[in-house]
Amino acid sequence: MPELRPRRQINITFKCNLSCPYCYVKNFKPEKKEISLSSFSKILSWFKKQNIQNGVSILGGEPTQHPKFDKILESMEKNELKSTLYTNGLTKNPLYLLSDSINYIIINYNHPPLISKEKQRKIEDTISFLTGKKNFTLRLNVNKYTDISEIMKICKKYNINSIQLSLVFPSEKRDNLFFKRGVLKSESQKLYEYIRELLDTGIKASVEEPLPFCAFDKKERKFLKKEANLFGECGSGRLYAINPDLSVVPCVIFQESLPKVFLTDFENEKELVEHLEKFTSSLKWEKYLFEECKTCVFNHRKLCQGSCLTYKI
Ligand SMILES: C[S@@+](CC[C@H](N)C(=O)[O-])C[C@H]1O[C@@H](n2cnc3c(N)ncnc32)[C@H](O)[C@@H]1O
Ligand code: SF4
Ligand code: SF4
Repeated sequence: MPELRPRRQINITFKCNLSCPYCYVKNFKPEKKEISLSSFSKILSWFKKQNIQNGVSILGGEPTQHPKFDKILESMEKNELKSTLYTNGLTKNPLYLLSDSINYIIINYNHPPLISKEKQRKIEDTISFLTGKKNFTLRLNVNKYTDISEIMKICKKYNINSIQLSLVFPSEKRDNLFFKRGVLKSESQKLYEYIRELLDTGIKASVEEPLPFCAFDKKERKFLKKEANLFGECGSGRLYAINPDLSVVPCVIFQESLPKVFLTDFENEKELVEHLEKFTSSLKWEKYLFEECKTCVFNHRKLCQGSCLTYKI
């Protein structure tokens, strides 16, 4: 089941010090690449009016590369806002990661050949630095270069017993490295096998995007729901993303599929979410990813939307 409470993602910069070929931000050309401190304050005031102090993620691009990242953290601290930080682990100053405004960190774990051995070592330095100081996890975006033993090694070394896994989904313009619709079910099955393998070595992995339920048999689905938090409907709409120019989209990937709206166009979050959900709800339940979805009980019962919604645009 998706999270029922709203979740907010703030893209503080679209610049990045890596260029992961699967990244959905790849070649993305926003009007404004970096948020200004005054725009960031506007978000904080809008949140404050509605008593929002949790359920906020900071991402991008690479958020730690924002030239005023320290000031952004300070302003969140002042407003007693607690956030989850998404980072590639290649930060200039790991001390920033200890800010009280960050209560959880999700490190995008890349390994060669997608990054150099030297960069992999730097990510490991960040993991080592954070160990025992901050709650964090690793996220692995499974792609055609994935070697599951790489993440197993690092988990064993640093005693990490729970990670996140995702298949790579398409960017809005299909200009990234992603799994095509035709292999989505077989790749989902591969993901299931990785989850079993990881669990056998004591590492619990949760899936971070909706997967097609029919990629699994009944027993596998039951296992994945229990052990890996398998879900079939995403939160987009209730989950929304705020860009550096304060435009708002339902989920970071839909940058151009909707007429542009801004955070400050809305009196409150309820109005905003209602507006965004009109778009996501029809994509979820009235547009079919596979022919068989039309007559599928999981679709009719609104349990499985097919997969990530970008496959449907
Ligand atoms: C765009 S990144 C921005 C934050 C930071 N640079 C990082 O890599 O974590 C946000 C999250 O999206 C994930 N991500 C990027 N491209 C993806 C894709 N095509 N499919 C699934 N997840 C993706 C990353 O692993 C990361 O967890
Ligand atoms: S996934 Fe993160 S680290 Fe990789 S290119 Fe995208 S924004 Fe940068
Ligand atoms: S809704 Fe579509 S993708 Fe989901 S289980 Fe049914 S047929 Fe498969």
